[in-house]
Amino acid sequence: MNSSYTKLVENLDYLKLTQMVTHLDETIDFMNNNQLSFVDTLMKLTDYEIDMKEINMMKSMVRVAAFPHHKEVKDFDFSFQPSVNKKQILDFTSLRFIERKENIVFLGSSGVGKTHLATSIGIAAAKKRTSTYFIKCNDLILNLKKAKLENRLENRLKHYAKYKLLIVDEIGYLPINADDAKLFFQLIDLRYEEKSTIITTNSNFKAWGDIFQDPKIANAILDRVLHHATVINIVGDSYRLKDHIKSEK
Ligand SMILES: Nc1ncnc2c1ncn2[C@@H]1O[C@H](COP(=O)(O)OP(=O)(O)OP(=O)(O)O)[C@@H](O)[C@H]1O
Ligand SMILES: [Mg+2]
Repeated sequence: MNSSYTKLVENLDYLKLTQMVTHLDETIDFMNNNQLSFVDTLMKLTDYEIDMKEINMMKSMVRVAAFPHHKEVKDFDFSFQPSVNKKQILDFTSLRFIERKENIVFLGSSGVGKTHLATSIGIAAAKKRTSTYFIKCNDLILNLKKAKLENRLENRLKHYAKYKLLIVDEIGYLPINADDAKLFFQLIDLRYEEKSTIITTNSNFKAWGDIFQDPKIANAILDRVLHHATVINIVGDSYRLKDHIKSEK
């Protein structure tokens, strides 16, 4: 190897352009075989670096979103849950609903796939570098309560309000007292017509007054969530129990 080649590798290493080092030899060969110009060769080489940066960025967006698992639309068996319209779910992964600042509510009993589908849409968003965050309703409220006690509620609300897509999982599983309901209302109000929110719940909307232990606040939350929203009502068997159901049939 000549000394300029060695120096070039050292330079690329120094600049941490690891992909360019990895693909240097093959790119030189390709250049010679195809009589590529200097500009085209450099472009080809830098593309390797850019591709890797994009992949890393995508992975980091997915990591930051804190999904409970990595389940995507391709992992969802639509034939098991016929009340879910595959086309509609795929349309959500195009993220048009986020551009329009619309919400999605997944409603249905345990195990029908609400968290799975909400996560799939979230992963699609994070992969396209849309700031996304997944949190269980109970954890969200605990965090807001803690922030309030520590006199930093406003900052915390702003933090949750900034995500282009916020997924609030499991509304209605645990009761929420009226004070805590007000904290949740503040967040929903901040996001209303500004950012998209996906909610999963096992309680129909009539029961929300009981969940939030204050019908007025529950109504104000529902009003804002549902104003520009698609409600996906999943009626079917629990996937968790599918093997038990099969053996009973
Ligand atoms: N149609 C499906 N195809 C493949 N896997 C599914 C399907 N529906 C659910 N699952 C899987 O079954 C498990 C339960 O689904 P999920 O957690 O989405 O249910 P859920 O509706 O959120 O229930 P809960 O109300 O109890 O939280 C998960 O592991 C999920 O990936
Ligand atoms: Mg769930």
